[in-house]
Amino acid sequence: MPVSFRKQISLFQIISSVTIIFRVEYGSAKITSSFVRSEWPSVDIPLDNEAFAIPEGHNAPQQVRITQGDYDGKAVIISWVTPDEPGFNTVQYGKSDKKFDFTAVGTVTNYNFYKYKSGYIHHCLVDDLEYDTKYYYKIGDGDSSREFWFQTPPKVDPDAPYTFGIIGDLGQTYNSLSTLKHYMQSVGQTVLFVGDLSYADRYQYNDVGLRWDSWGRFIEQSAAYQPWIWSAGNHEIEYMPYMGEVLPFKSYLHRIATPYMASKSSNTLWYAVRRASAHIIVLSSYSPFVKYTPQWQWLREEFKRVDREKTPWLIVLMHSPIYNSNSAHCMEGESMRAAFESWFVHSRVDFVFAGHVHAYERSYRISNIHYNVSSGDRYPVPDKSAPVYITVGDGGNQEGLAGKNYWVSSYLQFIIRFLDPQPEYSAFREASYGHSTLEIKNRTHAFYHWNRNDDGKKVPTDSVVFRNQYWASNLRRRLKKYLKAES
Ligand SMILES: [Fe+2]
Repeated sequence: MPVSFRKQISLFQIISSVTIIFRVEYGSAKITSSFVRSEWPSVDIPLDNEAFAIPEGHNAPQQVRITQGDYDGKAVIISWVTPDEPGFNTVQYGKSDKKFDFTAVGTVTNYNFYKYKSGYIHHCLVDDLEYDTKYYYKIGDGDSSREFWFQTPPKVDPDAPYTFGIIGDLGQTYNSLSTLKHYMQSVGQTVLFVGDLSYADRYQYNDVGLRWDSWGRFIEQSAAYQPWIWSAGNHEIEYMPYMGEVLPFKSYLHRIATPYMASKSSNTLWYAVRRASAHIIVLSSYSPFVKYTPQWQWLREEFKRVDREKTPWLIVLMHSPIYNSNSAHCMEGESMRAAFESWFVHSRVDFVFAGHVHAYERSYRISNIHYNVSSGDRYPVPDKSAPVYITVGDGGNQEGLAGKNYWVSSYLQFIIRFLDPQPEYSAFREASYGHSTLEIKNRTHAFYHWNRNDDGKKVPTDSVVFRNQYWASNLRRRLKKYLKAES
């Protein structure tokens, strides 16, 4: 059967885009940006600031947020807190504003942390949604009820365009607010959050819980309207034996819901979702991951479930970066590199996003999988099958930037800066606050930007066009298969 005109166009688009993108992705020399910004002080916004405003009305729902609720994007989990009493545990929703034809009933929980007693935390699964559809939803009762909306993603499809934002180590300072506002000015449709949420663990006693609440109200302006895909960082561990709190992730586990069972995970801290043309794998840097542990076994099976014909873009989220040329947290990701890097390379992962280091860094495609302690060859080498590693732990929390300052605590003093000279694997790095956006255009290419917070303006600073790792390899064979399927 002759190839149709539409198919010829598709063929042309794929070949030309891959050709152009190849030039772009490998075209830049390594850069350490010398930009120095005049940052706001790294202090948290006061609790009485409007950024943390409590909604009016008795027991009004607050800290409203959504996340994906299933494997493929036809469900959301809506979470909120009622401060005084459990109240209504129902979500009303529908496809028209003010017309809520459907209802879903959630669960409610609460917890104590030292002498702090949390509000009533609601999690409600809303499923059987239609793809690519705007839904309006209402929570709460009477005068205290509140209304929001969200847009479901397109059906899982290899050419579905979709834009993700990537934010990490956000906290609740004026720099955090700048990052959040700048992200909301972008066309991002879903946030991939790479851990370290509220930094409430920088406080003591009852203030820990209060700062979780203020952070929940802070992010609501975005998170109530689009999913935030969560991964946990070290600031979520909250191991605080001096006040009797020794259950790791206690606040996080009560407050943050994930659809982990939909990806056959046994733990909410590691899971996967598929959204539009992307398969997103969330890992936990602070849970066991060595050979035979549940996370290791789950990841081995999840990589088998990845179908690049349906979701060409394969993205991994974690907190502690595997490749990091900053003295801050240097080598902390090495144990996870030893456990998983060969899988990332053999699975042709497109991107590994991480946080933890309060600066921005992007790597070239490199790997170190030939190093086995005894080989003696310990340096990473260029590897076209390897992911690009991107650290975006620069959301703006109270600990400040990892780039040009001394960081001193009562027991330690470090000089925190980028290592000099810049390692060969490091393509671009800068110690500023900001966020990233990943605009997936089709199965072959995506536009990527890191956007610096520049004193009130959003400045695209590191921009790269990436080709897809799956479609870039064995292109002729894959095109043949694609055209056969289309005929
Ligand atoms: Fe961290």
